[in-house]
Amino acid sequence: MQESRKRAHLLGFIQHGVNSHATGMWRHPKDKVGWNYARPAYWQHLARTMERGMFDAMFIADELAPYNTFANSSEETVKWAVQCPTHEPSTIVPIITGATRHLGVGLTLSTAFEHPYSMCRRLSSLDHLSEGRIAWNIVSSYSKSEWEAYGAETSERSSRYDRLEEYMELSYKLWDSWEPDAIVADKASGIYADPAKVHEVVHEGRFYRCRGRHFVAPSPQGRPVLWQAGSSDQGRDFAAKHAEAIFAVHPGVARMRQHSDDMNERLQGKFDRPKGAVKLIYGVQPIVGSSRAEAQEKQAFIRELVPQSGALALISGHFGLDFSKYPLDQAIQDIEIFGIQGMYESIVHSRGGGAVTVAEAAEIYGLQFSMPQLVGTAADIADQMETFLDEGGADGFMLLATYTPGCFEEFVDLVVPEMQRRGRLRTHYSGSTLREHLMEA
Ligand SMILES: Cc1cc2nc3c(=O)[nH]c(=O)nc-3n(C[C@H](O)[C@H](O)[C@H](O)COP(=O)(O)O)c2cc1C
Repeated sequence: MQESRKRAHLLGFIQHGVNSHATGMWRHPKDKVGWNYARPAYWQHLARTMERGMFDAMFIADELAPYNTFANSSEETVKWAVQCPTHEPSTIVPIITGATRHLGVGLTLSTAFEHPYSMCRRLSSLDHLSEGRIAWNIVSSYSKSEWEAYGAETSERSSRYDRLEEYMELSYKLWDSWEPDAIVADKASGIYADPAKVHEVVHEGRFYRCRGRHFVAPSPQGRPVLWQAGSSDQGRDFAAKHAEAIFAVHPGVARMRQHSDDMNERLQGKFDRPKGAVKLIYGVQPIVGSSRAEAQEKQAFIRELVPQSGALALISGHFGLDFSKYPLDQAIQDIEIFGIQGMYESIVHSRGGGAVTVAEAAEIYGLQFSMPQLVGTAADIADQMETFLDEGGADGFMLLATYTPGCFEEFVDLVVPEMQRRGRLRTHYSGSTLREHLMEA
């Protein structure tokens, strides 16, 4: 019975750019009316809206360069604003946390081109400035455009995960290197910190070397909440070993359940961590209306906004396959791809086992990132969320935007009270850090 009263963790999925995930979002007549995504006021408003809705965090996705897999060019990406332009994500964190008291921020930062030493320094600094409200979405750059932009050779999935493993080993050494009572701050003697308690990190690994003390005093959470969204076999093992929360996408409840069971088995069977140690957050795209008919009208309208070429550039970038070389009516195959395996599989399975053509894949992905669309009244949406919580094993939801800030305002005004009435969402924040909020049952 306890499972049936589980409360949902909510996160708002966005990017520091003109568009976030739904391709064509910026064209919507209600998108960013009176707001400039590149200015602080927009982020302050979005943050306050999510905090009003008792969200755990705003979750900022990121990639490091415009996709260029489609026809070996970033032309379509730029033309249709396919997650482009995208500004640097950590720059907006203090604006978001400065405008709120409880809302956390999930920050996507790639390990591919940054040494763990500066990564840990940045994340510890942000944990201080946010008073303990930072999560790090650990990614390793899957897209060829990112490697080319940094002038580097692309690397295969297995070597990306090998490097990541060592990245984490060194990161833990840095974050754990200051003992809690290292800072003395004794004005009379002039001693600020006891060097015996600020341990120098010496690391000589296969991929990284480091000799130095962590430059930042221990932060409120000690280290950011560790988040992961890889869902290949290696990605799931990495998450079961290191993460405190995952983000995954599945087209329906049956595959969510499989993922939830799989993660819990890995946790217990391979890594000696208890069931539930990793919060399972699944993506959904809510489209709420005052009636079902109104919601369905909104859904149809949004679908019309997705430009096919832009969506093809998006799936080419995300999956690492150049879809300019495939006929639009060709069925996509269940194969191992270079890019985001979990997203690819959710597209392959989006018709319940039926064939999905390239054109359909572009439409589904361009619109909803292969997440389930929850369309209807607030009660309809709450019903579906309850099903995912109880039958899919979800601990919460990453909400994919349709237009901003409006879709989050509508969700908070309509769906949040319904979820609260059902006892499925907190009515107040009880902790102070993001980790405390996320770990609440
Ligand atoms: C729902 C979801 C969201 C993701 N968001 C990002 C992102 O914002 N930036 C990024 O570089 N990678 C992102 N990824 C990629 C993964 O974190 C991971 O690096 C990639 O999926 C390759 O690992 P995998 O093959 O194990 O899935 C995302 C993946 C998923 C499934």
